[in-house]
Amino acid sequence: MPRLNVNVDHVATIREARKSNEPDPVLAAYISEMAGANGIIVHLREDRRHIQDRDLHILRQTVRTKLNMEMAPTREMIDIALEVKPDMVTLVPEKREEITTEGGLNIIEASKNIARVVKEIKKNGLFLSIFIDPDLEQIKAANRVGADMVEIHTGLYANAKNEYDNTNELNKIQKAIDASERLGLRVSAGHGLNYTNVKYISGLGGIEELNIGHSIIANSLIVGMEKAVRDMIALCG
Ligand code: PXP
Repeated sequence: MPRLNVNVDHVATIREARKSNEPDPVLAAYISEMAGANGIIVHLREDRRHIQDRDLHILRQTVRTKLNMEMAPTREMIDIALEVKPDMVTLVPEKREEITTEGGLNIIEASKNIARVVKEIKKNGLFLSIFIDPDLEQIKAANRVGADMVEIHTGLYANAKNEYDNTNELNKIQKAIDASERLGLRVSAGHGLNYTNVKYISGLGGIEELNIGHSIIANSLIVGMEKAVRDMIALCG
């Protein structure tokens, strides 16, 4: 059974909508760990639209499981990762105009730069994963540049609109897992997973960890709403 890592970016998204101090992703990380999460994920984006540098620094001190910092392969982010020293780094593509990460990193397109980034991060003792599409050439490239792990992008599977696309995407993911295992790469998966589709991905076998954010944070609002309203009514007196 894959272990669950919780992405708390979306908690920070709500906080940043008001530029206030709640809800706090650090508290959300603590509750996730208490509920049994295997690790905590944050994506420090260049535009700081959700997670802030301060969150990352505090999480480094408070996370007791495993802190996974998602980042674009840029000089600024490498310097921050080397200072903060998360338990692992995941390289992801980043575009300013995107709503969320739209696909895996194209390692083939920028293999020299990515190989340099991987080398520098690993030389400093950090475990390194790369977020990639379920594509055999990208998996081989991840292995060539020296990644320890690949996170297979499940977004196209999650967004499949019909049975045919759904099966097709699931097959691609299975092939990607098998190819990664043959090369000795460790495997995680994530993006777009929810309470309905997660069982089909975890059922594939060969995935060590699932990285899930949006659906958990969305559901926590719904399952927590009743208590939140009752508590406020009690205070309204
Ligand atoms: N993995 C990566 C690399 C991501 O960028 C994200 C989204 O931040 C996730 C997993 C989690 O995706 P979701 O929020 O759709 O569960």
